[in-house]
Amino acid sequence: MRHLLSILDLSVEEIDQLIATAEDILANPDDYREKCKYKKLATLFFEPSTRTRLSFESAMLSLGGSVLGFSSASSSSSSKGESVSDTIRVVSNYSDIIAMRHPKEGAPLVATFRSEVPVINAGDGGHNHPTQTLADLLTIKRKFGRLNNLTIGLCGDLKFGRTVHSLIQAMSRYTGIKFVLISPDELKLPDYIKKDVLDKFGMEYVETKSLEEAMPSLDVLYMTRVQQERFFNEDDYVRLKDSYILNLAKLSNAKKDMIILHPLPRVNEISVDVDDDPRACYFEQVKNGRLIRMALILKLLGIN
Ligand code: NCD
Repeated sequence: MRHLLSILDLSVEEIDQLIATAEDILANPDDYREKCKYKKLATLFFEPSTRTRLSFESAMLSLGGSVLGFSSASSSSSSKGESVSDTIRVVSNYSDIIAMRHPKEGAPLVATFRSEVPVINAGDGGHNHPTQTLADLLTIKRKFGRLNNLTIGLCGDLKFGRTVHSLIQAMSRYTGIKFVLISPDELKLPDYIKKDVLDKFGMEYVETKSLEEAMPSLDVLYMTRVQQERFFNEDDYVRLKDSYILNLAKLSNAKKDMIILHPLPRVNEISVDVDDDPRACYFEQVKNGRLIRMALILKLLGIN
């Protein structure tokens, strides 16, 4: 039985296969309508979500399966003090596969110890978010036709942004990748990711505070929300929340074929005037997220 806790649980070849399946689903959706007939997906969301939960549910429904679950800790027995371990032990009796989001780093790992069905990490605290990364990779691949030889700027909350952590892990396995890490000092990429990922894979990277200076070199600009819910101190959040606001004027020195990604939800970090620029791809990421989650569900359930 396979789980997906980290993007590194998948080999590069498996990621290529998931991308190929997602593209086939887009081209031939009718071929997939009944692939998961009688299969059930449980979505256990102990933390808020719009896209991730609904795209998992839409993915399973599009495969002919059904869904059950909860969308907040307060509507589950976790509010009575039940452990993740017990919740999972129970829910794995009711479902064939589980997608789980939790505010604590490592909670999905704990879930795998007791689950009788595959568990997918749909975001654990400030740690990882591998299925958002699959959506990001599919978007980059569909735009550039490749996942190598790219300069990728990651901008905003690199400390708490789990989508950033997973994307860096994923891209570190491709060749010719350069990272430009754009953040205020307080929100820099954690040292453990520099050591365990960037240094380990020998990646080229620079850190800067200036989005303007980084802009001309970038092929991909990955904007992120400052993660309010992970701050200990409201004053710090208020001081840092508008560190970067991308608008059309700031794109004037960007490459014409650069793409702008954002896992969403956005707050202020991308002004709405950017939405109609052809480089804005964040709503395409949403579309791709459902397709790649369909491919992932099929893979983990062993359905061809
Ligand atoms: C992200 C998350 O939950 O980490 N959202 C998402 O899943 N698309 C990003 C965020 O909340 O800022």
